[in-house]
Parts: sequence; C-alpha cells; structure tokens
Amino acid sequence: MSLRAAVVTTVFIAACAAALPAVAADTLRALAQSASLRIGTAVNVDALNTDAAYARLLAREFDLVTPENAMKFSVVQPERGRFDFAQADALVAFAEAHGMQVNGHVLVWHQQLPDWLTQGQFSRDELKAILREHIRTLVTRYRGRVASWDVAAEAVAEDGHARETFWSRGIGPDYLVLAFQWAHEADPQAHLRYNDYGGEGDGAKSDGIYDLVAGLRRKGAPIHGVGLQMHASLKDAPRARDVRINMKRLAALGLQTHISEMDVMLPLPASRADLRAQAALYRDMLQACLAVLQCRSFSVWGASDRYSWIPEFFPGQGDALLFDADGRTKPAYESVRRILRALASSKRTGKTVKGQRH
Ligand code: XIL
Repeated sequence: MSLRAAVVTTVFIAACAAALPAVAADTLRALAQSASLRIGTAVNVDALNTDAAYARLLAREFDLVTPENAMKFSVVQPERGRFDFAQADALVAFAEAHGMQVNGHVLVWHQQLPDWLTQGQFSRDELKAILREHIRTLVTRYRGRVASWDVAAEAVAEDGHARETFWSRGIGPDYLVLAFQWAHEADPQAHLRYNDYGGEGDGAKSDGIYDLVAGLRRKGAPIHGVGLQMHASLKDAPRARDVRINMKRLAALGLQTHISEMDVMLPLPASRADLRAQAALYRDMLQACLAVLQCRSFSVWGASDRYSWIPEFFPGQGDALLFDADGRTKPAYESVRRILRALASSKRTGKTVKGQRH
C-alpha cells in the first residue's frame, strides 16, 4: 500500500470510529430506523450538560428527544414576558448535533406553571393573550427545528370527562382548539400532539381521550397525533391487545400515535424476576406499537435509572428504565433490542415476524 493510500485508509478508519457511537448498526436507533420507528427518550438537560457518559448514551441509542422539564412553562417563562431558553436551546443544539428529532413538551398543561401565573388575577381575555404569546414565542423560536409539539396534555380526568384545570377554568372549554391553532400558526409544518396518561388501553379515560381528540378533529383543530404516556408498574399496566385496539381507533381518526413516556416502576431493590417481567412489558408495548402502522415513535421517560423521576415521585419504587444507574443495559433493553433486531433482519431477508409493519 502506498503511503498516500495508507494515510487515506487511516483517516477513513478514524472517521468511522468517530462516527461509530451514532451509527453502530446494533443500537436501538439504528435498528428502529429500518422499521420506520423513532426511538425516543426524555432528557434531563442538567445531566446532559454535566455527565458526558449520559450524553454519549443518549446519542448512541436514541433518535428522538423530549425535554423532561426544559420547555415547561415555569422554566421557559419564569416571570411574565421574560423568557429563558438556556436549557431548551442546549437540548435542541444537542439533538441537531446528533441527528435526533425533538418533541417539544409541553405547551398547555396544568402543572409546573409559574406562580406569577397561578397566583395572578387575570381576566379570560388576559389569559388567552398570555397563553397565545407563550405558544407563539416558543413555537416560533424553534420553527423547523422542533419537529413535533405536545400542544396539550392531561386535559381528561380519570372518569373520562374534561378535567377542570387552571386553563379550562380561566379560558373556558375552547382553550384546546385555540392552543392547537396558535401552535399551527407559529409552525405550520410541526406535528401537533395531544398527550395523556392512563388511557393507553381500554376504559373510561381511554374513551374520554378518544372523544376529546375526535371532537378536536371535528372542530377543525390542527391535531396530528396522540401520545400515550405509558407510565406503568407490574401491577398496573394496560393489556397490549387493548393498546393496539386503542391505537387503531385513534389512527382511524387520521391521527398518528406514539408511546410517549414509557417507564415501568419496580419495588426497590428490584428482584431479577421483576426485571424480567419488566422486560416482557416493554416488549409487549413495543409490539403493540409496531402492529399499528400509524404508531410512529416509542419513547421512554428517561434513559438511565440514575435520572428517572420515579424514586422521587413514588418513594420505594424505581429501576423503571432500559439502562441502570451506571448506564449498563438491563433485560428490558435486551428485549426491546431483540424485537427491533428481528424486525430489521426480517426486512433484509423478507421474512415476516410478529409485529412487522406493512
Ligand atoms: C415529570 C418530570 O419527569 C419531573 O422531573 C418533574 O419534576 C415533574 O414532571 N407526565 C409528563 C411529564 O408529561 O412532563 C412528567 O415529567 C411526568 C408525567
């Protein structure tokens, strides 16, 4: 080999090695790509900025990110009219550097609102103006860079009726249609979603969510997708069959569907049997999604157990995600990867596997 060829080869190998983490063929994101599915995770931006191993893990395995808190109202607009995009900008830049899509989260929600808003005395028109300005500012800033938005979340109560919230009380029932319209005006290309928990399978809440989004479609609201959060435990998880049926009826309305925030909390310390049962649940829900062509993404609510919200919000519970606190793969990761691998290789060989998309 000539010196020139040797140098070119060396440079080529070095370039491949540098690119390896993001393109390695056996990562979740690489395998999912051949199934036209995005694999996502919530991102803790503080950790992103301080924990290099965490950042590498995200870039290697996922091609869709949702800011866990960085785009919520109280973070983005801590004082009236003063917007703080430091965290959101960092997340979007990271996603762009690693070829990941961003799902903006969340524009209209009744939680994590700043005190100036919830303690203030505002008329209906003032609240409409505040919400409109908030949505317009956020969506316009990331126009063309944030592919989808959770425009509204958790507007349905457990019994399936409209939830009474800060926004519904303050603006009235049409706040949802307005929010979708305002988001659409700010970025007509963005995929706009409704996101909720506890309505993944069958039951009153699932029916309530269906009725709500069907109503939004009827009223002409620019809604394009529904996120089913899927915060589960071994004792409280929907049946995969019901999830599939529910996704199909949502798809029949012309909506895409997403598993948007999956985690499966386990009593701590987690037993091996529970970790295996958790893996089976991840497998089943991924298969439910893969069985519905309109199910376009499968996201977990955090990559590694180190940064999961579960131990803080559900004391005594944890170990809910695909990677342990040290970033090592868990049985749940292996089961998700096994399905994606089978799907990817069946695409290549033309064999049909369970859950394959047509
Ligand atoms: C959670 C975050 O994970 C926590 O860090 C935060 O303190 C509270 O909110 N459904 C949602 C998410 O849509 O925004 C919530 O995130 C978890 C439940």
